[in-house]
This record gives sequence, structure tokens and C-alpha cells, in this order.
Amino acid sequence: MSARPVEKIISGQATSDGAGVELVRMIGQPALMELDPFLMLDAFRSDDPQDYIAGFPAHPHRGFETVTYLLNGRLRHRDNRGNEGVIEAGGIQWMTAGRGIVHSEMPEQEDGLLAGYQLWINLPAAHKMTQPAYQEHDAAQIPLETRAGACVRVIAGTTSQGTAGPVTQPLTEPVYLDVALQPGALFEETLPTGHNAFIQVIEGELSIVGEDRSTKLQRDQLAVLGNGERVTVQAGEQPGRFLLVAGKPLNETIARAGPFVMNTEAELREAFSDYQSGRF
Ligand code: CO
Repeated sequence: MSARPVEKIISGQATSDGAGVELVRMIGQPALMELDPFLMLDAFRSDDPQDYIAGFPAHPHRGFETVTYLLNGRLRHRDNRGNEGVIEAGGIQWMTAGRGIVHSEMPEQEDGLLAGYQLWINLPAAHKMTQPAYQEHDAAQIPLETRAGACVRVIAGTTSQGTAGPVTQPLTEPVYLDVALQPGALFEETLPTGHNAFIQVIEGELSIVGEDRSTKLQRDQLAVLGNGERVTVQAGEQPGRFLLVAGKPLNETIARAGPFVMNTEAELREAFSDYQSGRF
């Protein structure tokens, strides 16, 4: 089985979004505009309320999915269809925005650490206008697979050892794993051939072991993986933790503007006009 090589290492771009939330954009910035079907990956981690307290007041989405994975803290979400809830540490919210939703995402805390990731995953043309839906799971509902030196939280996809995550999306067949490694431990996993894949380092320093060389990754870096069948990751002298995410590329044209991601400029104009006329 061939090892997926590291094609590109991304260090992210500090930015601010919502009403002034400080975050680091990994995907969706000049160094990596998209990694089909992934449109955006934002990382946030701060214990300074000034960095997050303003939150993300009501804003729309159309044409894709937003996936929020919280590592620390609490985030309250509320939408224009009457859905409301709190995402807590270790919980996942997989929201299919589809034809349109208007929601807010606000910290449910006034101090302390807030940390996590928001990933945007595209929907194919035939499904962009689907009805909005949620797949929401708290930490206790996410299976934990234990291996030698490794703990794997399986959010989406099925591992080579047969652990299946609670989130399903047949359109892009996503794999979303949160892997914790003991110092020096080796983790090996197969991924569907043809899926685009990346690793986002949460903690520690990692080596991605290729066919003829290893590539070192630092904390908070993202590695785009090339094609192959398996990925092998080794922790350094400290414990390591990372997200391993993969998805089936859609190979469609992308027209994006702020919170809308469609296939054509005309569909983007329609999205703005529908939103402004209250048709979401
Ligand atoms: Co949003």
C-alpha cells in the first residue's frame, strides 16, 4: 500500500470574522483557497474573552455544510427555523445549510478557554438547495477507538478497525478523526483512494511518514496529503494530537461570496436576493 505524501504545509492566516472573533484560517485563504470538497477551515483557540466574546451574530449560509468541532468551551447556536442548542467540549455540530439558513453562533461563556475548528464542506450542484438539516452529537456519542499508543475519536467515516462515526454524508463520504498519540507512538490508517485529505495538528510535533522520507509538522500547521492508500503519523517526544479529515472531491465549478457557495455567479446573485427578501 502506498503512503500518501505531504504535498503542501500550510501555517494559516490570522484573521477576524463574525463580530470580531480572532481566528486562524487554514483553508479558504490565498495559500490554500480550497481542497475540494473542503472550502474553509478556521481554527480558534483563546482564553482571552476579547478574542471571542463578540461571537457570530445572525448570518446566512447557502449551498454547503458547516461542521463545528469544539475542543474547549461552550457555543450556543440558534437559527431562524427554531433550532437552538449548546455545543460543548468534544461535541460536533454538522449543519447542512442547503437552500438556506440564518443562524448565530455565540460563546456561552464570559471567560476561560474557547477552542475548536469550523470546517466548510461543499455540496454538489444537485443538492445545494436541499432542506437544511443537523447532525449533532455530544462527546459521549462519539466512539473512542483505542489502539497501541493512540486514542481515536471517530466523528465521521469508518476506520480500518471498523469503528463508525455517528455522522454520515453519502455525497462527500467524509472521514473526520481526532487522533491523540502518546510520545513516539505510530498511527496508521487507510483512507479511500481518490479522497482529498489533510492533517491539522492540534498539539505537539508530528512526523508524516512517506515512502522515502518523513515530513515534520508543527503545532497548528496543516498538511495537504497527496494520493495514496494509507497515512502514517508518528508523535515526537511530546504527546501529539491532530485531526485527520478526508472527503470525495466534487470536481464542480465553485462560485463563492462570503456565506454563500454556489456553482455560478447567477446563483450567488439569487442567494443574495433571496436572503435580502427574507426567503431563507
Ligand atoms: Co455560520
